Amino acid sequence: MTKSAASLIAVLLASPAAGAVTFTVPSKAGIGGYAYAPLDPAPIGISFEFFAFPSYFTNVTGTNQCLANWKALTGVWPPIRIGGTTQDRAQYDAATSAYVVYSVASAADAPASLTFGSKFMTLASTYGGSVVLGLNRGKNNIDNTIAAAKVAVAEMSDNLLAIELGNEPEYWKSDGQPIASGTWTPATDAASQNNWDISVGSAIGKTSIIQAGNSNSAPPTWGAQELIATENATVKQYIATYAHHNYPGGTIQSLMTHATTVTNIHVFDADIAAALAVGKPYVFGETNSVSGGGAAGVSPTFGAALWTMDYSLRATYSNMSRTYFHHGTVGNCQYCFWGRYSMGAPYYGATAAIALMAGAKYLTALDSGITNYAAYAAFDSAGAPLRVLLYNSDYFNGSGTRSSQSFTLTGLTASSNVKAKRLTAASALSRVDQGGNPSFGGQYFNNGTCTIGGTETYEAAAVSGGQVTFTVKATEALLVYLQ
Ligand SMILES: *[C@@H]1O[C@H](CO)[C@@H](O)[C@H](O)[C@H]1NC(C)=O
Ligand SMILES: *[C@@H]1O[C@H](CO)[C@@H](O)[C@H](O)[C@H]1NC(C)=O
Ligand SMILES: *[C@@H]1O[C@H](CO)[C@@H](O)[C@H](O)[C@H]1NC(C)=O
Ligand SMILES: *[C@@H]1O[C@H](CO)[C@@H](O)[C@H](O)[C@H]1NC(C)=O
Ligand SMILES: *[C@@H]1O[C@H](CO)[C@@H](O)[C@H](O)[C@H]1NC(C)=O
Repeated sequence: MTKSAASLIAVLLASPAAGAVTFTVPSKAGIGGYAYAPLDPAPIGISFEFFAFPSYFTNVTGTNQCLANWKALTGVWPPIRIGGTTQDRAQYDAATSAYVVYSVASAADAPASLTFGSKFMTLASTYGGSVVLGLNRGKNNIDNTIAAAKVAVAEMSDNLLAIELGNEPEYWKSDGQPIASGTWTPATDAASQNNWDISVGSAIGKTSIIQAGNSNSAPPTWGAQELIATENATVKQYIATYAHHNYPGGTIQSLMTHATTVTNIHVFDADIAAALAVGKPYVFGETNSVSGGGAAGVSPTFGAALWTMDYSLRATYSNMSRTYFHHGTVGNCQYCFWGRYSMGAPYYGATAAIALMAGAKYLTALDSGITNYAAYAAFDSAGAPLRVLLYNSDYFNGSGTRSSQSFTLTGLTASSNVKAKRLTAASALSRVDQGGNPSFGGQYFNNGTCTIGGTETYEAAAVSGGQVTFTVKATEALLVYLQ
């Protein structure tokens, strides 16, 4: 090597790589002009469609293992929510010994009506994590809902986090739900919610028990800010959390683009602020990529996995406490993270996001939110940087040349070497059920069981002058471990 070549390499090592995106990692949470979100122990959870919940827990092998894989990372079982459209089609039946009773023309259908027994709540009580249970308001049978709520409180004494009273009330008029038979507006729904919160909360003798809101139509028309403005102190005492639903949709390219996700999450800024201002957490109570079970060309893909990762992190960064990804009819669910036979690519994205935040106390976003390149940093309880996740949302669909982007992290005080796990797949369109298995740190999840396969693999890179540079390909992410 010539002397000039050697000195050129020295210069390259000492300064960010040419064309690199550079992020400064704060040496401590709270400094550097970034916004820091306090972290729930398990910010990513699963929502199960009401009628399908017993099937997921008794007749889908992967469910327990998929949830257990995340518990292994964070130390706590991920939160779950049971609800959805069929919660407002369900009536409690004290006489039935079944979990749920319904009939459908095809296994791919959701039932138009159903009943559920106390065993439904007993099953929910066996779960090791917190449970939000969605009950019926649409049918306007408050005595039935109170009867179910009383069983929930009795059975789920260790894990009942909150009860929802109705799902997506803005659609009840067109759905022909009895409670919406007269005038039905955000204001009449808010008055209804408030009365039900008081009636149900007082009947079960619990405050901080209602997950309120639960609309899907975007705020401010339907949302926490609008609802909170109608609530007096009597109502507020019964509320535990405010929730909104969200299905951003669009093409896979637009969905996975970082700036699109940032713009989408900003829709909720005022709602989050309104909830936090009254001292209540705000959550995505039900969400996924595309409404109605997902879209085949979008929801099961690796691009959607990267969206799942970026979206849940950006929501968390924006001070949402938890994000519950919805799981619908078993066997008819494009966006599901797992099913009876096959894994869904989005599970990999959620797992990478959980791996970033596991055991951490604070999260910040280091990027401006306006480019395709994202970086999130998680900090431990002492405020020290723990991990950084880098995301290159440039779109690669498998044709042509796959570009790559250098990311330089500066301000590192930690070790002389850092290690990283790569989240990758052949392209944005890769689907597990078509053989396009993603990998995270060289590992994959087995179809049907959700057990982990492959050998855990880290890449190493040398820190020099407090800097390290990694290359991340288009449509790929990298989790960097700083401790
Ligand atoms: C479990 O799932 C299989 C496959 O869809 C189905 O045939 C069976 O009836 C289910 N059993 C129960 C108890 O739900
Ligand atoms: C609070 O609001 C509820 C319904 O929203 C109402 O029934 C109750 O009378 C109000 N309480 C007070 C003290 O204003
Ligand atoms: C989140 O809440 C914290 C206070 O807990 C605040 O410092 C931070 O700015 C908030 N983040 C955003 C994005 O508003
Ligand atoms: C992939 O993207 C290229 C343009 O970047 C486009 O011409 C091609 O049709 C796309 N292929 C698929 C399978 O979407
Ligand atoms: C999962 O099943 C699909 C469809 O059979 C297959 O192509 C894929 O390779 C399997 N994935 C793993 C990790 O075994």
